[in-house]
Amino acid sequence: MAYSKLVGAVCAAFMLAAPAFAQEYPDRQITMVVPFSAGGPTDTVARLVAERMSADLGQQIVIENVGGAGGTLGAGQVAKAEPDGYTLLLHHIGMATSATLYRNLAYDTLNAFDYVGLVTEVPMVVVARKDFEPADFASFIEYVKANGDALTLANAGIGSASHLCGMLLMSALDVPLVTVPYKGTGPAMTDLLGGQTDIMCDQSTNTAQQIKGGTVKAYAVTTPERLALFPDLPTAEEGGLDGFEVSIWHGIYAPKGTPAEITGRLAESLRLALADEGVVTAMAELGTAPSPAADATPAALQAKLESEITRWKPVIDAAGVYAD
Ligand code: MLT
Repeated sequence: MAYSKLVGAVCAAFMLAAPAFAQEYPDRQITMVVPFSAGGPTDTVARLVAERMSADLGQQIVIENVGGAGGTLGAGQVAKAEPDGYTLLLHHIGMATSATLYRNLAYDTLNAFDYVGLVTEVPMVVVARKDFEPADFASFIEYVKANGDALTLANAGIGSASHLCGMLLMSALDVPLVTVPYKGTGPAMTDLLGGQTDIMCDQSTNTAQQIKGGTVKAYAVTTPERLALFPDLPTAEEGGLDGFEVSIWHGIYAPKGTPAEITGRLAESLRLALADEGVVTAMAELGTAPSPAADATPAALQAKLESEITRWKPVIDAAGVYAD
């Protein structure tokens, strides 16, 4: 057989195999990397959808928590993983802010990943240790302005959602607080509950239970509207902090080069999970809601990441605070 014909035959055989490979996907356990500590808000969201997606895919999705460097360590691990559909990343707005905050990232944010879809957009809440003096948001603002440099603000490292929200809070109040970094707001919450730190700006998925239990003091939410879960909690805007608005969108990514059939199959499974009654109820009890099905797609997540990198770059450059 002429050499060119032989090469043609081999390629044809391989091309025939590729869709078959995707059709058999998944045939073993999948790892979903969460770039923050276990028990925190990102972990909570990941475990909620992973459980439902596992049921649909017929293979277990196990969560691997890789905390550190504001989420960039876990993202970096997935960026260099095999693009075979068996390693995924669930990350949030930090994916966009880190692209500017870290000038020497180990990966190229816009070229190191393929996309599965958006998952949810979580409000942030300004909370403090339960014995913190101010009774309401107006006195919180006065108190923090008067005592700023003696107060500690917990966060999950530069590039995290709590870091971004803390940065916006400090610039809105024009007060530098003493920041205390953790590998996630799971462990940060433990110290706040213990009174080791004073304030934190964290996702409702990590604060709702504590607020309901009265184990933290809640002052304001960072969304334009009040939360149905906490109708008496004012918005930061109502408290006079103009433009202090941020909510934490989350998405699922795969390493660049993951076959489109596989990211498509995962997106389909994600949409099923987000339509699941149990997932909808669990998210509502944590102050959030699933992303619409139209956003649980590779194209929608790619567009979101690109627009958010563009949105936050001037804000971060204006603050001039970089991680490296
Ligand atoms: C976490 O899961 O710990 C958070 O997402 C951390 C953060 O980004 O503030």
